[in-house]
Amino acid sequence: MSAPPLILGTMYFGTTVPEATARDILDAYADAGGRVLDTANCYAFWANPTGHGGQSEAVIGRWLADRPGMRDRVEIATKVGVEPAGGGGVQGLGPSVIRREVERSRARLGTDVIDVYWAHADDRDTPLADTVVALARLVAEGAVRRLGASNYATWRLERARALAREAGAEPFTAVQLADSYVHRRPDAPDADRYHRFGAVTEETRDFMDAHDDVDLWVYSPLLRGAYDRADRPLPDSYRHPGTTDRLRVLGEVAAELGATPGQVVLAWLARPGGRVRPIAGVSSVRQMESALAGAALDLPAELRDRLDRAG
Ligand SMILES: NC(=O)c1ccc[n+]([C@@H]2O[C@H](COP(=O)([O-])OP(=O)(O)OC[C@H]3O[C@@H](n4cnc5c(N)ncnc54)[C@H](OP(=O)(O)O)[C@@H]3O)[C@@H](O)[C@H]2O)c1
Repeated sequence: MSAPPLILGTMYFGTTVPEATARDILDAYADAGGRVLDTANCYAFWANPTGHGGQSEAVIGRWLADRPGMRDRVEIATKVGVEPAGGGGVQGLGPSVIRREVERSRARLGTDVIDVYWAHADDRDTPLADTVVALARLVAEGAVRRLGASNYATWRLERARALAREAGAEPFTAVQLADSYVHRRPDAPDADRYHRFGAVTEETRDFMDAHDDVDLWVYSPLLRGAYDRADRPLPDSYRHPGTTDRLRVLGEVAAELGATPGQVVLAWLARPGGRVRPIAGVSSVRQMESALAGAALDLPAELRDRLDRAG
């Protein structure tokens, strides 16, 4: 059986998603053949009274410890860089932070090796070469298998890859950004955006076309459930005529396929070829099953084309 394309987002495991529920979701995801868990050292500091993260990694670590053999069945992706530091800032990507935090993540996860280690967000106060070399050293030592960059401007991503090439070091080969079927107005204020360069753009797609050694992981694809539920209206920044058109076509396609709009969004994002993979956030087994089925949905070319052209 080939692995389903859906990556399981575990951001709220151990904070707003209670540990017992998180374990049920993890069991059901693995039983269904799911392979990749996305977490971060800082999840979910904003939902934790201490103001610090680590709960999601710890839940995954305890789950793995209770499931002999499971570590070989799932890949673990975690991140470093935006755990809060004193004074309202974040830890960033200095070499000493990377060294300390990878050890903390490995300890919480109870694993010797992290499959994908993400720079969570660009750190412009640290020389890029220092970050690149510090991350690559983890690969050389066997603590990490592969490196990814999240929320980087495309030019910074390519500069980092060039620096790695010059140093004969492991480059970033994965990119993590937000994307969905409907999009914000380009001139919308920044209030509802996590990161300045955090969204897939036409430039990202151009970069992906030119670099077939890189894959793209798409976060927040379901816009917190907005496609399927009235209690989660889209933020104002998504309100424009293009959205109206897209939601209409999405509804028509979903009805034709007997699927929910959110499921069709996941299928549309998970294009054949496997280089674009949605990361769905879920808080119940039912949501996880719906997302898995959505990402695996067979979207006929004619329907994909209608979705592409709408708006
Ligand atoms: N790299 C980064 O900077 C970054 C940033 C954000 C997220 N991420 C990653 O991406 C993952 C997903 O992000 P996200 O949580 O923002 O994304 P999302 O997938 O857009 O939203 C997830 C939320 O949608 C709702 N939902 C899911 N399935 C549903 C269904 N079938 N019916 C109705 N509502 C449904 C749930 O809300 P309720 O739980 O309230 O029911 C769920 O928590 C995270 O876990 C994390 O791994 C990365």
